[in-house]
Amino acid sequence: MKEEVKRIERVRKVRQRMEAALSDQLTGEQVFLRSCNTCHAGLKANLGPALDKINERFASDNELKQYIRTEHGIMPGQPIETISDIELSALVVYLREASKEASKEKTK
Ligand code: HEC
Repeated sequence: MKEEVKRIERVRKVRQRMEAALSDQLTGEQVFLRSCNTCHAGLKANLGPALDKINERFASDNELKQYIRTEHGIMPGQPIETISDIELSALVVYLREASKEASKEKTK
């Protein structure tokens, strides 16, 4: 019986995670982890460059959004089918905040 309860609990958690992955209302951090972290892990240089200077590099949110929607070398452009406009706005808020933190870490 106990095993059965544990199994049901596990299935429930997996289902929740799957629903979260399919949702078009992920938080900025969730979108980043899903779509960007492979190449920009922790906003540090990896396959892609470090993202600790994006606040200086992209003056407006629209510029940054446009950049993310467009392909750049090995960096895939993200169409509306993979990142909704709502998620893109959340992603930009997350990026600007996380980038500020990352640049602070560097100058410490
Ligand atoms: C397959 C690897 C890869 C993935 C996935 C990826 N990037 Fe990139 N990213 C790159 C590379 C490589 C560059 C440098 C592109 C160039 O200048 O040619 C880059 C550049 C950037 C830049 C510009 C940095 C600067 O200072 O010029 C931003 C901003 C950025 N990526 C954000 C993101 C975001 C947000 C995501 C997720 C939606 C993402 N990237 C996903 C590889 C990736």
